[in-house]
Formats: sequence, structure tokens, C-alpha cells
Amino acid sequence: MDDQERITGILNAYRAEIMARSPQSLAAWQKNREVMPAGVGSLFRLADPFPFVVKRAKGARIWDMDDHEYLDCMLGFSVMILGNAPDEVEAAIREALPYGTHYGQCHEHEVAFARLFCDMVPGVDKVTFCNSGTEATLYGLRLARAATGRPLVAKFEGGYHGTHDFLAVSFGRPRPGPDRSGPVEDPTTVPESPGLCEGAWKDTIVLPYNHPAALDKIQHHASQLAGVIIEPVLGAGGTIPADPEFLAALRQVTREIGAFLIFDEVITGFRLAPGGAQEYYGIIPDVSTYGKVAGGGLPFGAVGGTAEAMRLMEYDRDFERSIMVAGTFNGNPLTVAAGTAVLRRLSQEPQLYARLNAMGDRFRSEINRFAQAEGYPATATGVGSMFAVHTVHGPVHSIRDLRQGNRAASAGLELLYRRNGLHISPTHGFLSTAHTDEDITRLIEIYKATMMELRAQGVW
Ligand SMILES: Cc1ncc(COP(=O)(O)O)c(C=O)c1O
Repeated sequence: MDDQERITGILNAYRAEIMARSPQSLAAWQKNREVMPAGVGSLFRLADPFPFVVKRAKGARIWDMDDHEYLDCMLGFSVMILGNAPDEVEAAIREALPYGTHYGQCHEHEVAFARLFCDMVPGVDKVTFCNSGTEATLYGLRLARAATGRPLVAKFEGGYHGTHDFLAVSFGRPRPGPDRSGPVEDPTTVPESPGLCEGAWKDTIVLPYNHPAALDKIQHHASQLAGVIIEPVLGAGGTIPADPEFLAALRQVTREIGAFLIFDEVITGFRLAPGGAQEYYGIIPDVSTYGKVAGGGLPFGAVGGTAEAMRLMEYDRDFERSIMVAGTFNGNPLTVAAGTAVLRRLSQEPQLYARLNAMGDRFRSEINRFAQAEGYPATATGVGSMFAVHTVHGPVHSIRDLRQGNRAASAGLELLYRRNGLHISPTHGFLSTAHTDEDITRLIEIYKATMMELRAQGVW
């Protein structure tokens, strides 16, 4: 038996162990598969050895169908910043419920929600609501194109902005077959799915994250470029923060060439600071996109920006140039109630951020110290309450830095987090205000135990 076979055997034993201890979860997913493709409602719910099936979630904990309790650092892909099922959100939804679950019209509660965006986020004078982050980024690009009259948009390699055809390119996930991602300084636009409209993604150029060549590429396309969209911290791409100087340079070059700078704050919004990444970094984009945290746990997206950038949504004197924004469920009253409850709490208690961010800092520094002292090729990345651990030596500035990761160790980490009672995405973990210092101690213990077991087994 060669080493590869031995390691596969160990990973398969972990898989078998997880499946054996979770018969109800496994059965529930298998029933899903009879009537839902792959048994999941989203590609990102696929997991090794099978998807996590939730029974309930409260605070910093989540339970699977087999009643196993997990420390929850997935938090519904970052959404539940106050922890799962927060009392104030439940109360707000209960209060709104008797008035109707959907109107498809204006209502008096939208203003408080929108006002919180405008008051909390430095770059938002006006905001409009939609139903997902995907829609939000779609509208962000549409605004930029309409305002500038230019055809191209730019995104960064490793950036995830949802599933529409303009931006479902170059997430940078390792894939089978030849590497088509192009040179580091000049990444190729690689569609992430069959079936995308070529006419859509061909107008998207891809830039290297945290790399000065990105600025040159922007200059090169200056006269044709409508806007540049960036996650100020790559989320699904591995929780990699932008360098502050890089973001500042990006702000400068986009302003110089008259293109929109769009911050995709679907994850960072209301998470890094009350005003999101733009407050955290002190850099104001033209347009910002939202989802996740701001919807309070109900489906949500939003686009906000400076009054100038949002002009083409006013439908007045510029009617002919105004962009189409429409949606049956936009401003749904239950989402507005839930989102308002969360944003109100965050705006009234900004000290929550100091605690959240300190917990993230403690995690990163303890894991990095441990990895260094014990000689693990591992790096904890992230900022504030966003974190991930990668199987590479740091520093990590872009997804290309993750390419040397140890595949077997990464697979082993994912399996052992689950077996050891941690619910988390391997590329992006999150903390909530419901997490306690004891939870962070436990989180650190789970990571250390997982790493030590993989080493003891000769997997890493
Ligand atoms: C940064 C970012 N933008 C956009 C999206 C798309 O949001 P949604 O899944 O709500 O469509 C996501 C989702 O994970 C995201 O992380």
C-alpha cells in the first residue's frame, strides 16, 4: 500500500465514522435526493461525506437531525451575527406577522430600515432592497454601465459575487483538468459553470487581488471600463483581507478613469464595523451591495450608494437613462422587520464590534502561534469576526497563495471539524455576538486537536 492509499484509507474511515453516527441526517438527505437535484438547494451545501442536515439552531449552537450539538461558526454563511434565532428578531417577526406576510407595495416600515443603512454606512445616501446578494451585485454592475455608458466590468480572481452570468467567473476554485487561470498578473476570465451566456461573461475582466498589476490592467481598459467590483475581504475565496493600501489605490484609479468602485459588502457589511468594510478601511466606494447580516436571517439583498451614484434609480428627469430595478418580493415586510431588528441592535451597541473583532484576533493569533511553534504549514487568515485556516505557510494575499495547500490535510480538517463538533465552511468561518470567550477557547481546542490528530495519523 503506498502512502496515498494509506491516507485515502484514513480519510475514508473518518467518512464512515461520520455517516455511522448520523443515520437520521443521512436518511433525510437521501430522501431529499429523490425529489431535489443532489438533495441540496445550493451547491455550497454539498459537503464531505454528505450535507449537514439541520434540526434546529440557537445562539452559537446548531443541532443536526441526530441531535448532535455543534459549535456554529457557519452561521448560515455569515448571516446570523447575533447568533441563531435571536430573541429580538423573533419578536420583530411576530409583531409584523399579523399585518400580512407580503404586499408587493410600499409600506411604512421600509423607511426605518433604509434609514439605518444611510445612518450606519458612510457611502450610502440611498438604498434599494432586493432579495439576494446575487441580485444586488447584478444591479451594482447595471448602475455602473448605465451611468458610464461603458461595456466592461472588472472583478477580482477569487471574488464571489453570486451566480449571475456576469460575475460567475474566476472564483479560483481548484478544478480538474488543465489550469486555465492564466498568469498571476493577468488572470483569464474563467466561467465557473457550463451554460453561462458568453456575451455576458466576456465583458468581465479579471484582476489579481492585492497585486499592483490590477491597477495597470484597469488603466489599460480605462475608456471601456464601467466599474470594478471587489470584496474588501475575500469570503468564499478563503477569507483574505485586501491590503488597505491596495484598496486606497483602487479607489484612486477608479476615480481617475471615471469608473464606479463597487464594494461587495454582502459578507463584510455590518460585520466588520457598523459601516462595514468601508468604515473599517476608511475608503468610500460609489456603490455597495448587501445581503446576509442585513436581512436578519430572511432572504435579502440591497444596493446602496452615494446620491450621485444612485441617480439612475430615481426615475425622474433621467428616466430614459434610468435602470430597471424591480422585484415582487423587494421590501418584504417580514424581511424588513427582521433586518431592522438586527441593524437597530448593531447601531445601538457598537461596542459589540470590539468584542467580535477581539475574539477573531485571539483565534488567529493563537492558531498561528501554535502552527508556528509546532511546525504545521498552516495559516489562520481573516479580519474581525471572519476567519479561516489554510494548509499553507503564510502570508496569504490572494487565492494563488493557497494553491500549494495540502489537499489531503484540507480534506482531513473538514472531516474532523465535523466529527469534533464544529459546524463551519472550510473557506470562511464567522463569529457572532452569541459566541462567548469559552466558545473561542473550545474553537481553538478543536482546531489544535484536529491538526494534531492529522499529524499523528500521518495525513499531514
Ligand atoms: C460576497 C458575496 N457576494 C454575493 C453573494 C451572493 O449572495 P446570495 O447568495 O444571497 O445570492 C455572496 C454569497 O455568498 C457573497 O458572499
